[in-house]
Amino acid sequence: CGIVGYAGGRPALDIVMDGLRRLEYRGYDSAGVAIVDAISGLAVEKAAGKLINLEKALAERIDTGFDIGMTGIGHTRWATHGGPTDRNAHPHVSADGRVAVIHNGIIENFAALRASLEADGVEFRSDTDTEVAAHLMAAEMRALRGSLEGPALLAEAMRLVARRLEGAFTLLAVSPDVPDAVVAARRNSPLVVGRGKGENFLASDVSAFMEHTREAIELGQDQVVLITPESVEITGFDGSPATGTAFVVDWDVAAATKGGYDFYMLKEIAEQPQAVADTLLSRFPDLSLDEVRKVVIIACGTAYHAGMIAGYAIEQWARIPCDVELASEFRYKDPILDASTLVIAISQSGETMDTLMALRHAKAQGARVLAICNTNGSTIPRESDAVLYTHGGPEIAVASTKAFLTQLVACYQVGLRLGAARGFSHADVTAALRAVPDQLRALLTRTDEIRELAYDLATARQVLFIGRHVGYPVALEGALKLKELAYMHAEGFAAGELKHGPIALIDEGTPVICVLPAPGDPLHGKVVSNIQEVRARGARTIVIAEEGDETIVPFADDVIRVPVTPALLAPLMTTVPMQILACEIAAARGHDVDQPRNLAKSVTVE
Ligand code: G6P
Repeated sequence: CGIVGYAGGRPALDIVMDGLRRLEYRGYDSAGVAIVDAISGLAVEKAAGKLINLEKALAERIDTGFDIGMTGIGHTRWATHGGPTDRNAHPHVSADGRVAVIHNGIIENFAALRASLEADGVEFRSDTDTEVAAHLMAAEMRALRGSLEGPALLAEAMRLVARRLEGAFTLLAVSPDVPDAVVAARRNSPLVVGRGKGENFLASDVSAFMEHTREAIELGQDQVVLITPESVEITGFDGSPATGTAFVVDWDVAAATKGGYDFYMLKEIAEQPQAVADTLLSRFPDLSLDEVRKVVIIACGTAYHAGMIAGYAIEQWARIPCDVELASEFRYKDPILDASTLVIAISQSGETMDTLMALRHAKAQGARVLAICNTNGSTIPRESDAVLYTHGGPEIAVASTKAFLTQLVACYQVGLRLGAARGFSHADVTAALRAVPDQLRALLTRTDEIRELAYDLATARQVLFIGRHVGYPVALEGALKLKELAYMHAEGFAAGELKHGPIALIDEGTPVICVLPAPGDPLHGKVVSNIQEVRARGARTIVIAEEGDETIVPFADDVIRVPVTPALLAPLMTTVPMQILACEIAAARGHDVDQPRNLAKSVTVE
């Protein structure tokens, strides 16, 4: 979910709505705002569906509170408890109407809390876990009145509530009784503070406020923050004074706009040459690699595919065993780790809960953790022993593109460093990496044939992807993109495995996208055979092949050409046509490319 809070001297509604627009990629099942003002009290509006529905609902409201209130909170939801309906949309308001709360995460003990509130006669109006927090806040505020007042009352009530909650949460609350403050609590879900002049902000990530201020503070675990126009006050849940970690946002504001493209995704695909060039210049952290005996990579989704490719590179260049694990599965297999294990956590957002939990498990077992991350001030780098930042800039489209390519570049750098630590030199790879940005620029000028192909494939019933070695994760990534964006049945397979079962899926005209290694590669002939096998069964073969490789022409219905690279770097090229294909097929099918159904960019629940 995306969360915004504002306390300042300007009308809060505009600022909160603007923030929500920038955070909508975090979830778009529903959205809502609460604005408070000393005279008008509390004004709340919410609506199921994308933000546009909330905008329409607000356009019909004439409450003065929405016009003049200078304190507010807003939420854009990715549903966990309770379906994506109006009544389950946040904010949730206490029965006495004195508190509105929004929440990201899952309150695990909500059932017990709800039962005890219901026993006290509180009537619930939603199916969410969040609503308990609204009623608890109101009860604590009533109990504290008389001994405390103003912002201090709000902050203490939040601390008392936070101590009673289990699970993961970022909670924000406002009350018309304390009209110039927003209070928030954070445990395991993201929250950053933006410090302005005469105004302060809270948000899930800096993109919500970076056009207003660059001064940010990342909160620590189990902290409560109270913002007013003039102050930011941080404490632990127990009330002890605390500080967050201050940092300056270095992202470019323009980078978070569409800049003339139809979709963020197309813009982000086009930004890949620069993003790769910037990441090649990334500062490598101080981290001794001499003692590393084993590498384990943990990641989710697209980042996991980058990790799979990294696994091949690390083993080949450094000759160190490397396991690649889905972060959500990692803990449960009771992995064998020790101080000589280097765990690499790959995450664009730095907030993915599955990856964070895997990281904590690794640390608890004594392993060292290196994060590869795109987001300054996020949790995963903060909890890691070292971080190598990718410099992709803000990625807004839910389907990851430039983040993937920059993750690959960062992984290659780790592989080369690990190799160097063991006395292996790969000067040829380093030189080849430097050429990648220009090669990507060239590749991106020739996308017309992919667009035409997309139009053709838009009506297919299924699309299969095959590859071997690093071409296999590329096939998985191609299929994932198509599932995410086009809602089509798409599967990626190791090309050699096809004959052991999946080949039964192929019938007349089934499109099979084949990632072909370079002609000199020992696997080239094997993949050519696999392509012939599917063709013999009626498949339409679409082959992604290196420039100049003519051997494939007789077996390919369509050929997409990519520039020549060393085998392990090929995914930097072969993934790009797949990104464009998925984007164009989704557009041809009339889907929302940037905000595919059911997904969220940053998944902060397990
Ligand atoms: C979500 C997104 C995916 C992304 C994955 C990991 O599921 O929809 O596109 O690959 O999370 O995200 P991370 O921020 O950890 O790289």
